[in-house]
Amino acid sequence: MRNKATAIAPSNIAFIKYWGVKDEILRLPKNGSISMNLSNLLTTTTVEFNPDFYQDTVTIDTVIDIVSGNRVIKHLDRIRSLAKIKYKAKVVTVNNFPTSTGLSSSASGFAALTLAGARAAGLDLSEKELSILARQGSGSACRSIPDGFVEWLDGDTSETSYAVSLHPKSYWDIVDIVAVVSKTKKEISSTDGHKLATTSPFFEKRLELNKEKMILMKQYIKDKNFSAFGELAESEALELHAIYLTSHPSLIYLLPASLRLLHLAKKWRQEGLEVYFTLNTGQDVHILCQKKDEKEVVQKLLKLKEVQNIITNYPSDGAKLSNKHVF
Ligand code: PMV
Repeated sequence: MRNKATAIAPSNIAFIKYWGVKDEILRLPKNGSISMNLSNLLTTTTVEFNPDFYQDTVTIDTVIDIVSGNRVIKHLDRIRSLAKIKYKAKVVTVNNFPTSTGLSSSASGFAALTLAGARAAGLDLSEKELSILARQGSGSACRSIPDGFVEWLDGDTSETSYAVSLHPKSYWDIVDIVAVVSKTKKEISSTDGHKLATTSPFFEKRLELNKEKMILMKQYIKDKNFSAFGELAESEALELHAIYLTSHPSLIYLLPASLRLLHLAKKWRQEGLEVYFTLNTGQDVHILCQKKDEKEVVQKLLKLKEVQNIITNYPSDGAKLSNKHVF
């Protein structure tokens, strides 16, 4: 048994969002979703299973975090059960960005943990099996396993709910620039938020519209139709936040600085700079643009007092093994 392995996985940004679960334990989503892996929001994780360890230890960005650690240990249990081993593990994870602020550290984190953990446990899983396993740690992590532009298939069972690559990273050179407006941690995690989805009176309508949106989004990406793609991504993000705002209790993630960026994105577009925004469960704003406009968008964002820093992302591969162990 190979007992130590390292993986690097990207976070991903969803253009059609996953929100709401039909099975909380298995993390089966209420609807399909489409995303792109992000080249510059990365988690590196090393996992070692060792008969000499008497307990699991989990270190995330140099901190031994009990809450996140417990979620990681549950995932190690899934891996141990598949591999039929009992050894305890040491897990060390390093993110190149702040965790739990809405930048989807759980997506990159659980994708990296799944690949490194499975390999360290001696399992040789297919991409589909890795995606199914990652999904159970954090839903959106299943989309960080395959390369490039990705669809999470809307299956009703664990075996049919996994992500597949639609196009490789080189297919379309669009850019996702994250404008970080605050490093405050979310008050309600997405795991808890998903459970509130059905309390919004608009959630059923959202589900009804999902299938058509999935078809359109795939077509716009395939055609590289940036305008249609951007309009749909933007309206989808606003719809997600409409569900947040109308849930009970309500979820208000956007800050004044986030709202200012949404207004500015629309203004810049009217002035001829084609940018669109998308959002996650958090306050930061993802600005989508074409490669030819990247420099101008970056310059504009960096001038704003609301923007603490920016993270520029290109389409990226999914999770990959690495021989550079963290410990
Ligand atoms: O995978 P989770 O539980 O972190 O949920 C992700 C939720 C959104 O980021 C808002 C949407 C998505 O599809 O990534």
